[in-house]
Amino acid sequence: MSSCELIEENGANLQIYRLARPASAFIKWRAPARQSRKSRIEETFSPKIVRIMIEVHQLTKRYARHDAVRDVSFSVARGEIVGFLGPNGAGKTTTLRMLTGYLPPTSGTARIAGFDIFRQSIEARRKIGYMPENVPLYEDMRVREYLKFRAQLKGLDRGNTRRRVGDVIDTCGLDSVRRKMIKTLSKGFRQRVGLADALVHDPELLILDEPTNGLDPNQIRQIRELIRRLGQSHTVLISTHILHEVEMTCNRVIIIDNGKIKATDTPANLTQQMRAAGRIQVEIQADPEVAGGAIHRLDHVKKVTHESLEDGWSRFTVWVDSGVDPRESISRLAIQYGWPLRSLFQHVSTLEDVFVELTRKD
Ligand SMILES: Nc1ncnc2c1ncn2[C@@H]1O[C@H](COP(=O)(O)OP(=O)(O)OP(=O)(O)O)[C@@H](O)[C@H]1O
Ligand SMILES: [Mg+2]
Repeated sequence: MSSCELIEENGANLQIYRLARPASAFIKWRAPARQSRKSRIEETFSPKIVRIMIEVHQLTKRYARHDAVRDVSFSVARGEIVGFLGPNGAGKTTTLRMLTGYLPPTSGTARIAGFDIFRQSIEARRKIGYMPENVPLYEDMRVREYLKFRAQLKGLDRGNTRRRVGDVIDTCGLDSVRRKMIKTLSKGFRQRVGLADALVHDPELLILDEPTNGLDPNQIRQIRELIRRLGQSHTVLISTHILHEVEMTCNRVIIIDNGKIKATDTPANLTQQMRAAGRIQVEIQADPEVAGGAIHRLDHVKKVTHESLEDGWSRFTVWVDSGVDPRESISRLAIQYGWPLRSLFQHVSTLEDVFVELTRKD
């Protein structure tokens, strides 16, 4: 144990340690406090041995005027599906391009399955299937021909090329367009060709930069299903603006803003933290000043805001201390004052609320 080093700890009771041997690591779950001391000790001493797939250490990219990415460190364990989120210009693409060896960092290191992406570029890249933000495709090639060409470029021999191209055409649902010229394909099919290209050399790690960008809701759903299936046998790092997708697909999210990491945790833990500081919405027919004052005087209420609706109805948003639910007290007030009440609910935070809270500029 003396040769292991803690490299990441997050709120999900998760600690990732690196062992002295390169690329080897284990994850240790901190046992919940309610467990007995004996079971906690057993869990601590039987760590699940895993390998780290991505290890980023103090990565920085400086352009002439500003730092696009500043001192970014994180790691991704084998088998995780991690959402990489951030507003436009946050530094997502820049980070992913450095991770995949397309852009040299100003400083810092990135390792893929233990291989340094710049010093051991060939070994590291062999592990990565990268789908860039704007997939560059050869317009005048046919789909199958293009994938064959890409497979050979990535070093596959003839037999493997034929087999893998067949496999990815199947996996990505490209059979009906395999003989079509790429320039005649719709956006959704182009994205699938990009994904097939990323998969053709059978990489362990998929790095996808906004793979559902510009797709319609049906196509988004299809690509999501595909990524979810791929996630069963691959490690996935995916950048997207569709937060609902992330909540459904990812085990963990990393939120980056202005080149710096703002949070890294499971979607459930992030939304839970928001929920702790609760918000209630209530719609009643009452004098706004009287009702607002009465609600504000309830225990644990921190703030009340008011919005006038039609026909004398008012909507109040009530902020309360963490863990407090004043809905019953509010309904009693409504009965006591004789206010008609038509809606009373506790706002459930979504990943979008967390995202906005962490990255808003005001
Ligand atoms: N070649 C470049 N030269 C100068 N600045 C750049 C260059 N490439 C990116 N930037 C800047 O770096 C910052 C991060 O850009 P990046 O493309 O990584 O953002 P992003 O998070 O991928 O955004 P989006 O959601 O719009 O794709 C931006 O301010 C961008 O203008
Ligand atoms: Mg981008």
